[in-house]
Amino acid sequence: MFIAFEGLDGCGKSTQLELLFNYLKGLNKKVIKVREPGGTDVGEKIRSILLNKDLHIIDRSELLLFLASRAQLVEEIIKPALKDGYFVLADRFADSSVAYQGGARNLGIETVDFLNKFATNNVFPDLVFFIDISVELALKRLSKKDKDRLEKEGKDFLEKVRKSYLEIAKKRQNFIIINGERSVEEIFSDIKKIIDSYIISK
Ligand code: ADP
Ligand code: TYD
Repeated sequence: MFIAFEGLDGCGKSTQLELLFNYLKGLNKKVIKVREPGGTDVGEKIRSILLNKDLHIIDRSELLLFLASRAQLVEEIIKPALKDGYFVLADRFADSSVAYQGGARNLGIETVDFLNKFATNNVFPDLVFFIDISVELALKRLSKKDKDRLEKEGKDFLEKVRKSYLEIAKKRQNFIIINGERSVEEIFSDIKKIIDSYIISK
């Protein structure tokens, strides 16, 4: 099973992914985690370009770099792991490009959808957890850390990102909105329930 975590920077994706990783390990499931951009040698190099504050990257280049990192991750890590029966937990995947580049950068949802299919060779998550927090809370959490290039974008940008995520949710059944403005335990309890029902159904 391929599960992705999505949301604004600071929404708690990594925290929940880690909890799910440990939970599945505890059930003796085969599980790996990957992160985007990055996760492969080529991907980590692309990541350092993408997050570098000193570079001026035009929007289309930015999208293509994210996609290149994703293509590499799918072929090198995700496809082989799924074939071997692993749970793959991804900290961001294709929907990040839809929301950030397609929506917030105005490159167009359809364009990004099309290019995502090309980049991933049509490999997409079975389930996406969208950890939803307000832009205000995201900014509050971000103010505590050293911001990378994308995190330096302000309130308007994040509003557009969140709006795009919510648009995706309207169209896709496997894109699940999780209220992220609760305790870590409450959020994980929702995620665990959904995963448990999946495991029982198999
Ligand atoms: P992301 O991976 O989405 O950027 P993180 O999991 O790294 O988010 O969390 C960002 C910050 O918010 C961290 O300091 C983390 O401890 C904190 N955090 C995560 N989940 C919650 C929560 N439910 N309530 C309060 N703080 C949280
Ligand atoms: P990430 O390292 O996940 O940041 P965080 O842990 O703070 O959420 O992602 C880095 C940044 O890249 C983040 O601001 C979101 C952005 N991003 C895109 O704009 N498009 C994409 O396709 C992906 C995967 C990430």
